[in-house]
Amino acid sequence: MSCSILYLLLFLLFSCNCSKTDAQKEENTALTDRSESSPVQCSVDGNQQFCLITGLYPLLANLSSTLQSLKASMDQEQLRKKEEHKIAFAVGLGNRGDFGPFNTDVALVYEKVFVNAGSCYNTGTGIFTAPVKGVYFFSISGHNQTTRPMGLRLFKNGEQMTILYNYALTDAGVRYETLSNSATLKLEIGDQVFVRLLANTWVFDNSDNLTLFTGHLIFAI
Ligand SMILES: *[C@@H]1O[C@H](CO)[C@@H](O)[C@H](O)[C@H]1NC(C)=O
Ligand SMILES: *[C@@H]1O[C@H](CO)[C@@H](O)[C@H](O)[C@H]1NC(C)=O
Ligand SMILES: *[C@@H]1O[C@H](CO)[C@@H](O)[C@H](O)[C@H]1NC(C)=O
Repeated sequence: MSCSILYLLLFLLFSCNCSKTDAQKEENTALTDRSESSPVQCSVDGNQQFCLITGLYPLLANLSSTLQSLKASMDQEQLRKKEEHKIAFAVGLGNRGDFGPFNTDVALVYEKVFVNAGSCYNTGTGIFTAPVKGVYFFSISGHNQTTRPMGLRLFKNGEQMTILYNYALTDAGVRYETLSNSATLKLEIGDQVFVRLLANTWVFDNSDNLTLFTGHLIFAI
């Protein structure tokens, strides 16, 4: 008994059921013997069995460092989620003057980049690709003379979502006009949004940034 009191003072101790059957005791011994490095060691003293947790400090140190690394990875995940939702772009056709006409639709590759947070607008192809499922807002604008037709088509994948179109006015003299339109679209990951110049129409841009394409994520779903 004095021995177990000593154990009490030195280690955190918990006492097992005092009236275990021999079979249960054997089972416990088998369990603790399975691993030499087990922190729980049991011994039998007469009718009583004592189990000691040895090496409690390394266990706590391990737990603490495990919790710390868990927290670090959660912080990182939160940061990643935050970054994931910073998606916005604004681009201009660029200082190139007239663009068009062509006898088929042609993709507009806006070369002047004002903002491209998340890098989801591809400056080589003019295509915006949704990185997360969500609701997005897009707007397009286009400039040219009223005497020439201008058609800008906003696509989601292969499907036209909206169009800017001016019918050429030949009886009102030459004027310049800028049109704009916008669309709120529900996109899946990987959906593509882009603009095409309608066949046989013109669009114009210069250093005034008249012909633009912008978009951003409103909220992820
Ligand atoms: C904590 O213990 C686990 C399981 O025994 C082990 O895999 C891990 O490497 C330990 N971690 C530290 C920091 O000691
Ligand atoms: C488009 O508009 C610009 C002026 O804003 C003009 O210089 C250009 O000639 C126009 N292009 C066509 C094809 O009418
Ligand atoms: C066009 O955009 C540029 C930035 O690329 C800016 O410096 C300039 O002031 C803009 N021009 C107009 C007329 O807004």
